[in-house]
Amino acid sequence: MQAQDRLIVALDVSSLEEARLIVEELKGSVGMFKIGLEMFTACGTEVFEFIESYKSEKNTRFFFDGKFHDIPNTVAAACRNTTRPNVAMFNIHAQGGIEMMSAAAKATREQAQNLKISKPILIAVTVLTSISESILHEQIRTSKDLDLPQYVVHLAKLAKEAGLDGVVASPKEVPLIRSACGDDFVIVTPGIRPNWPELGSDDQKRVLTPSQAIAQGSTYLVIGRPITKAQNRLDAVNRLVAELV
Ligand code: C5P
Repeated sequence: MQAQDRLIVALDVSSLEEARLIVEELKGSVGMFKIGLEMFTACGTEVFEFIESYKSEKNTRFFFDGKFHDIPNTVAAACRNTTRPNVAMFNIHAQGGIEMMSAAAKATREQAQNLKISKPILIAVTVLTSISESILHEQIRTSKDLDLPQYVVHLAKLAKEAGLDGVVASPKEVPLIRSACGDDFVIVTPGIRPNWPELGSDDQKRVLTPSQAIAQGSTYLVIGRPITKAQNRLDAVNRLVAELV
């Protein structure tokens, strides 16, 4: 995979106009654009029409970050509805368990076959990077026998067993996941910050630089504000890609 194809730009905006502006500036220069709950709750299913409007442009693909987590039947239906032309990737929560994830994988496979489109890459969120070890043990009350990285690896293995293509995880957990789940397993990592003096600090705390994340074994890097808030977004992308090669 080329370095630029590893970049996923988070479209954390609340209107299709803003999203289109960014996509028009960066299409062909990055691997995918991520549309998540912010755009979905502002624009509804128009986001899928937006995604489909780029289907003839081979290099303009989308990751729908819907993080589905419900009973197996409902998640399977949501996965069928999300398996559409030009949705190259979407996700569910690994904490929904193996039955939910297997139902999601099956529904996605079958819908792609019915529509005669390539199957989207289906990945699972392991543990959100906003969850700390103490939240995990004291609020969610997972077993103290597993520390947070071990719990993440446990969920990644469940996702693989259920037939998913990969996971979303913090870049810090990537080496453990890579060795547990193999070279072909897709690992998508947010929490990426280049070492650029003008960026300052924001709400991302546990960060790695893009090249560190790739060196750890990440397949795709989700990057939002360092690109979307840059004075010149294309320059920011080119600078990131140059750091990766
Ligand atoms: O602007 P920034 O690079 O921090 O954007 C990161 C993107 O990745 C946001 O869309 C955020 O919601 C998402 N994300 C994250 N941490 C997670 C999961 C998703 O930052 N654990």
